[in-house]
Amino acid sequence: MNVIDFASKKRQNDKISMVTCYDYWSAQILEKTDIDMLLVGDSLAMVMHGFPSTVHATIELMEIHSAAVRRGAPNKFIVGDLPFLTARYSVDLVLDNVRRLMHAGCNAVKIEGAIGHIDVIKHIVESGVPVMGHLGLTPQSVEAFGGHKVQGKSACSAEKILEEAKLLEHAGCFGMVLECIPQKLGDRITRNVSIPTIGIGAGPHTDGQVLVLQDMLGMQEDFKPKFLRHYLKGSEVLSEAVDRFHEDVTQSEFPSCEESYR
Ligand code: KIV
Repeated sequence: MNVIDFASKKRQNDKISMVTCYDYWSAQILEKTDIDMLLVGDSLAMVMHGFPSTVHATIELMEIHSAAVRRGAPNKFIVGDLPFLTARYSVDLVLDNVRRLMHAGCNAVKIEGAIGHIDVIKHIVESGVPVMGHLGLTPQSVEAFGGHKVQGKSACSAEKILEEAKLLEHAGCFGMVLECIPQKLGDRITRNVSIPTIGIGAGPHTDGQVLVLQDMLGMQEDFKPKFLRHYLKGSEVLSEAVDRFHEDVTQSEFPSCEESYR
C-alpha cells in the first residue's frame, strides 16, 4: 500500500483500515494481517508510557517506537505522529523531526491542526514527504478544548473544521484523520475533499477507520468511549493466561519433562 493506493481506494469507494502500533512484537503480528496502514501515534505516550496526555510524546520516543515498528512490519505503510508543537517552531526544526521519523522507517508523517501552520505542511509536502492531517478532537490541544470533547457540534465550529479540511487538501496532504466529530460532519467533509478521510469517532461515512490497537483489543476494560468496539477481551485473556502460568509454576506443573533439556 502507498499514497497512490489510498487515493484510488477513495475513488473506488473501498474503505481504508488503520490501527496504531508502537512496538516490535505487535508490528510482527500486524505485518501478517490485512490492515492497510499502521500509525505510530503519539498516543503511545499514554498507552505505552502512562503519561496523562499525548503532549508528553517527544521526538526521541516517536523515533524509537517508529524504528521498532518498522523492524516488525517491513512491508506495511507506516505513518508517524509529529509530536506536540513541532509544527509551530521553525521550518528547520519541523524538517529535522520529519527527517528523524522518515529515517526511523515511517512512510509519512501526521500533523494535528491546520490553521497557523499550513505553510509548514505545504513545505513538508513540497519536500517530498507525504503528510496526513488530523482535525476535530486533536488530542495535543486537549487543554485548549477543556478535555476530550466532541468537536464541531455547533454550525460555526463545523464550518471551521470543514474549512480546515479544505486547507489540508489544498496544502497537498494525502489524507486526514477526523477525530470525535458528529457523523454528519464526518460525512460532509468526506464528500467535500478529494483525499481520504480516516475517522475515529467520526461516524460510518469516512473513507476509513482508525482505532488504537490496545483499545480495540480490550486491554483496558474501563476505557469504553462511544466510538470504540472491543474485538477481544484482551485484558481478561492475558491475565487468565498469566494466572494459569502462575498456577502451573506454584503447583510444580511447569515445566514438564518434555519442556526440559535432557
Ligand atoms: O495518536 C493516535 O493514536 C492518533 C489516533 C487517535 C488517530 O492520533
